[in-house]
Parts: sequence; C-alpha cells; structure tokens
Amino acid sequence: MRAALLQLEPSFGSVERNVARAAELIASLEADLFVLPELFPSGYSFAARAEVERMAEPADDGPTFAALAEQARRKRAWICYGFAERAAGRYYNSANLVGPEGLAGTYRKLHLFGRETLFFTPGEAAAPVFELPIGRIGVMICFDWYFPEVARSLALRGAQVIVHPSNLVLPHCPQAMLTRSLENRVFSLTCDRTGQERNGAVEHRFIGMSQAVNPRGELLIRLGAEHEETAVVEFDPATADDKRVTQYNDLFGDRRPALYSPATL
Ligand code: ACM
Repeated sequence: MRAALLQLEPSFGSVERNVARAAELIASLEADLFVLPELFPSGYSFAARAEVERMAEPADDGPTFAALAEQARRKRAWICYGFAERAAGRYYNSANLVGPEGLAGTYRKLHLFGRETLFFTPGEAAAPVFELPIGRIGVMICFDWYFPEVARSLALRGAQVIVHPSNLVLPHCPQAMLTRSLENRVFSLTCDRTGQERNGAVEHRFIGMSQAVNPRGELLIRLGAEHEETAVVEFDPATADDKRVTQYNDLFGDRRPALYSPATL
C-alpha cells in the first residue's frame, strides 16, 4: 500500500480554497490511500454555531464530498478526510472514507476536544473498520488517541491500518501513537495540520508532525512542525496480522478480558 499524508494549512472559513488545495495535492501524488486532517474544509477555530451551520455538509453531498469523490474516482484510490457534518439538524465532527465507487462510510468523532463540545454532537457508533481491496482500514479522529480503547477496539475488529485525521494542539499525540501502534501491532497514519489559526478571540496553534508508524511502534516518517507538507509511505498492511510478540506471546491471545472487566467497560 502507498499511503499519502497531506499535512495542510487550511484557512479558517475558506472552504472553496481549502478543498481546491487538497484536490490539487491529491492530483499531484501517486498513492492508494490519502489521509487529510480533521475539519480541513472549514478550519478548526469556530467562534459561533452559525459558522458551523454555514460550513457543515451532508456526508455524501456538498462541495467537499463532490471534489474528493471525483479525485478518488480519477485516482482509483481511497481518501479519508475530516469535515463538519450536518445530519438531521445536528452537527458532527466526522471523517469520510471515499473510494473509487463513492462513499465507503462516515465516522462521527466519539471524544470531542475542548471547544468542539460547544458545537458538535458526539458520535454514537463505534469507530468503523472498512474491508477494502487495499487492506482493512480503521478510522478514528484526533483526540480519540487519548482513549486507548478506540485503537484497541479497531485492532480487535481486524484493522491493519488506523487512519487518524487530526488537528493536534497538545504535544503528546505523536509519541503516544507509537504506543497505540505497538500495543495493537497495527500501522497508524496520523495526518495533522499546521499553522496558527485566529478567528476573533478563538486561537489555536497546531503542532504538525503528521506521521506513519509501523506495527513495531517505529516511525516510517514524521513531518515537520511548521509547514504544509506531503509524504508517501509504502508498506504491506498484512504484516499487521502477525500479533506474535515473542515465540511465547500472542498479543491478542494473551489478553485477559475477563479480568479487565468491569473497569474497562
Ligand atoms: C483534537 O481532538 N482536535 C485535539
């Protein structure tokens, strides 16, 4: 699998510009799977609900879906991107997985971070695993990394690769994701954004450092902190199916779930 990370620097409120930039970069790269940041069409620093209402789109309609579904069709590739979703009068911080034949599915972020809680409804369905010709792909969004249950549950349901659209503001995630990959023996593709974003009194600085990690918890690549950047990494997702830790230890076989409950439930 060739996987592309598109570490973008969206401009808050400029959906047309942000989507055009992403489409242009996708068109210029050769990959089977493209990962974009969380909420990349709108930007992140919402100050008012009206801004969310103006920029949110249905999962399978609107300018972002149209542009990226078109790229997925042209490239015969899959694209995972974060966006503000509007559905039945609610707003979700969501990620779409779009392929050559259209929308494979949508994940609504379970663990909202900071001011996201003011504007978005948390998802009510488990993070999904998609069985695709290129591999079994699990999806989670940014702050979900802080809850190891999400990556664990994706791995237990067969994910070989966790794609992880992000808008990171805390410094810990890049290091933590080495452990999420190691403890589940899966690939992880964290695609962050960069830059400083100001919208009135609301301001965020994003840490960049998008990365790809292998099932041994080793970095395949980590991008810089400051700039828009892209990278393509190549790996075999099937290597994530080997859960042996030593000759005597199998990661999933050695688990003792009866003794973790009910604390983990
Ligand atoms: C985050 O979940 N965007 C930090």
